Amino acid sequence: MSSMTRVGVVGAGRVGAVLAAALRAAGHEISAVAGESAASRTRIETLLPDVRVDKPTAVARSADLLLLTVPDDMLPNVVTMLAASGAIRAGQQVVHTSGKHGLAVLRPALEVGAEVLAMHPAMTFTGTDVDLDRLPGCVFGVTATERTWPLAVSLVGDLGGRLVRVEEEHRTLYHAGLAHGANHLVTLVSQAMDLLRASGADDPAGTLRPLLTAALDNALSYGDAALTGPIVRGDVETVRAHLVDLRATSPGTLESYVAMARATAERAVLDGRLLPIRAGKLAGVLDDAVADAVADGVADGVAHGAGRGATGRTGWAPRA
Ligand SMILES: NC(=O)c1ccc[n+]([C@@H]2O[C@H](COP(=O)([O-])OP(=O)(O)OC[C@H]3O[C@@H](n4cnc5c(N)ncnc54)[C@H](OP(=O)(O)O)[C@@H]3O)[C@@H](O)[C@H]2O)c1
Repeated sequence: MSSMTRVGVVGAGRVGAVLAAALRAAGHEISAVAGESAASRTRIETLLPDVRVDKPTAVARSADLLLLTVPDDMLPNVVTMLAASGAIRAGQQVVHTSGKHGLAVLRPALEVGAEVLAMHPAMTFTGTDVDLDRLPGCVFGVTATERTWPLAVSLVGDLGGRLVRVEEEHRTLYHAGLAHGANHLVTLVSQAMDLLRASGADDPAGTLRPLLTAALDNALSYGDAALTGPIVRGDVETVRAHLVDLRATSPGTLESYVAMARATAERAVLDGRLLPIRAGKLAGVLDDAVADAVADGVADGVAHGAGRGATGRTGWAPRA
């Protein structure tokens, strides 16, 4: 924003408190902020000292630009309530940071004459000042009207970020891509650390960091071509041995290993690097592991296709 704007924030969560602090540092006034829990109050005290804390309706009335940073599932009710109460007014700018939602959720604000914008930071937030250093270069997935696109350019510029346009109908898919990559990566890495710990490694993170950093860099640069390891080599016996040990020591991880191994093999076949006949053998080994886990009572087998029978083992087995 070229000129100073009065920004109100509902609520002071991980994203709201951090973006408000960054906008304040860029010269805007934070008119008021809403947040009741102890965690929100702590964030306000540390990131937004001296900013007035008030109810959502009062925050909305205090602001020219209303930043809605509530959980995705709360957003429809919050917008509806603020618009119905008259706290959102014509000409006001109403912005949310949800990845999943686009502009449709802001319809009640649009109907009372507000300008609406969806601006999602593709970043993971801790709700501390650590996040402030991650904003420069951060991508913001933006869904805007013709009138609010310039606002997005200016706001993202103030935050030091980069805009990517996301069409309304692609919003959920965009968010699924980010969540699948970033959130499931956390689970994957945590499970890998558990396995290394069980193998006796005293510094699982230190052991994994160089490998995972290289794998991530390569995957981001080269996609499926970055894949190495037993699946793409077709080393069926190595995978079978993994599954035996996982069944014995970490049955919880066995399910995700099988799911990821299936997806990995499927992509390796499509990529032309794994022969369908080797993929078929792998599929059999994976199906047997699921059947064993079901027998052990540690997997339901539904997600893994147990019970499909020999012919249903794989979509990429060689055709007869
Ligand atoms: N966390 C991330 O890494 C991240 C990244 C990008 C985008 N986002 C998006 O940013 C938005 C906020 O996420 P977050 O992680 O910052 O959430 P959060 O940490 O859970 O904070 C949510 C905030 O909303 C307030 N709130 C909850 N229900 C409310 C209601 N009914 N009325 C008014 N205020 C309410 C909470 O107040 P109390 O504390 O008083 O309950 C809290 O201040 C979401 O749309 C999310 O998808 C999150």
